[in-house]
Amino acid sequence: MSLLTKVPTGADLLAEIDALRKERNAVILAHYYQTPDIQDIADFVGDSLELSRKAAATDADVIAFCGVKFMADTAKILSPHKKVILPDMDAGCSLEDSCPPEKFKAFREAHPDHIALTYINCSTEVKALSDIIVTSSSAETILAQIPPEQKIIFGPDRHLGGYLSRKFGREMLLWPGVCIVHEAFSETELLKLKEQYPDAPIAAHPECPPSIIDHADYVGSTSGILKFAREFAGDTLIVATEPHIIHQMEKALPNKTFIGAPGADGNCSCNICPYMALNTMEKLYVALRDLTPQITIDEEVRIKAKRSLDRMLEMASGTVGMGDLGKVRLSGD
Ligand code: 13P
Ligand code: SF4
Repeated sequence: MSLLTKVPTGADLLAEIDALRKERNAVILAHYYQTPDIQDIADFVGDSLELSRKAAATDADVIAFCGVKFMADTAKILSPHKKVILPDMDAGCSLEDSCPPEKFKAFREAHPDHIALTYINCSTEVKALSDIIVTSSSAETILAQIPPEQKIIFGPDRHLGGYLSRKFGREMLLWPGVCIVHEAFSETELLKLKEQYPDAPIAAHPECPPSIIDHADYVGSTSGILKFAREFAGDTLIVATEPHIIHQMEKALPNKTFIGAPGADGNCSCNICPYMALNTMEKLYVALRDLTPQITIDEEVRIKAKRSLDRMLEMASGTVGMGDLGKVRLSGD
């Protein structure tokens, strides 16, 4: 039976999802790259770090995760006794795909004196093989706590790793993964847009390549870009990240203008994340009704992955000092 035939004809999806959320004692978490209808029905919209914190702290029985699979996996790792549902199990990520666990394990084994500082956009198995997880909003705070003599492997996003490496003047061994969405922005088209709007600053996500980052007035996570949107002095902002985030900007700042940075074809259609786009209101409704697709994780792998995620949560809020980093080095796989 196709998904749509499972949704009653004429159903008021907003009302149905709302009723199911109450019936199931569910919380709906959504990333900023989800479509506006999903963002608007969510209990909480946030970046990867904020969503991880919410998932760890919720007292709901069910977490309906509107984002991509590594985010829903993270929720399950942190809250194993909750049911975590993802509207479409195929909502993956090119960064996760770029980093198969066996290859990552071999890379780690080839560099035994390095710790693995790993971007959250990876599989649970890769998290289990890592020492500390970072998100784009926590990476700088965490990197600043790692002693300068400690050698580091950074994966799987070579652009985020390269950005941190340049900013901190610190060499790191970079895994060669990229985000296909941020990689698709065009420097030529961005400069043409900048000529049209010379006073508009550019805010970019660190998953962008250096050709975009080098023109940015602000570089940061999705929540960081939103904060910059609220605080910059002008009235027009060029946004170099997935364009669905503009929904939050337009809601909060109706008097400012937000322009999505262009892809190579001169419009930003190639910058819509195809994985995030797999989640729809219909699929969210069916997932809440049937409690499927549901995330399951092998317990042994989960416990190892949780260790590196817990370090992120502690270090991101500055509750771990330099002394604990010695333990990090000793516990690497
Ligand atoms: P943020 O943590 O900045 O929201 O980034 C998430 C992400 O990778 C989506 O591409
Ligand atoms: Fe992955 Fe890029 Fe989509 Fe984020 S925008 S989920 S990094 S493919």
